[in-house]
Amino acid sequence: MTAAALPTSRPRSRTPETRGYLMCPPRFFEVTYAINPWMDPSKPVDADLAMAQWRELRDTYVRLGHTVAEIEPQQGLPDMVFAANSGTVIGGRVLGARFRAPERQAEADLYRRWFIENGFSDVTMPSEINEGEGDLTWTGDVLLAGTGFRTDPAAHTEAQEVFGVPVVSLRLVDPRYYHLDTALMVLTPARDGQPAEVAYFPGAFSEGSRRVLERMFPDAILAGPDDAAVLGLNGVSDGRNVVLPAQATKLAEQVSDRGYEPVMVDMSELRKAGGGPKCCTLELRG
Ligand code: ARG
Repeated sequence: MTAAALPTSRPRSRTPETRGYLMCPPRFFEVTYAINPWMDPSKPVDADLAMAQWRELRDTYVRLGHTVAEIEPQQGLPDMVFAANSGTVIGGRVLGARFRAPERQAEADLYRRWFIENGFSDVTMPSEINEGEGDLTWTGDVLLAGTGFRTDPAAHTEAQEVFGVPVVSLRLVDPRYYHLDTALMVLTPARDGQPAEVAYFPGAFSEGSRRVLERMFPDAILAGPDDAAVLGLNGVSDGRNVVLPAQATKLAEQVSDRGYEPVMVDMSELRKAGGGPKCCTLELRG
């Protein structure tokens, strides 16, 4: 047995699934407050570059065959571009958001209205602090739920009641990885008895949560600190194409070794607010 043993199972054939996404153009993007360690209001951001990078991400999804809906941004809500935080959609059912930071609280109702106006009739607004897909990750059979910085553990129970799916709480311990989607991504959802395939950065999680992840996903891709530090785990997979931040080069090799197609996008400007591709993308499931 060599140290660099190949995965025991042959890579599955990687078939992309068509996805529906909701995105918000960063027309009013800026960094005027700091609610995570990436944000420094004294450093300039290039709004045009942020918009160009966002468009590149949107066009990448369209090129890959996905559907992208857009919500109108609003002045004074610079983080509204991070659509992933505004809800969780599973089987057409929507659990809205309730933000921790006062600066972002008004976003929740704008997204709620978007859901109602766009045919989502089953929308529940949470009573507990819940930053949407930022902290709630659907694997296809369980909802992984982050806590520690933003989403309240009581919101995990609330999500379980709303969706009627098992919820597994995970504790985040590194402030740079303040949302679950900065530390873990689903590459292939669970399907027909096959477990989900995920990638994660172990250093973002508490000791107990790491053990939970090892138990649930023994074959996970473990990302290293360098890829985590460019928000490499904030990627979006359709089961074949894995959209990753351009700087996450080692992770790109790791997913490629498993038969995925890395698709690199540069999100350096949006990273100044602590966001990557996934943060800009809310998945509309069902
Ligand atoms: N500045 C935003 C915040 O701190 C970034 C959110 C990034 N979104 C995400 N899904 N991780 O709330």
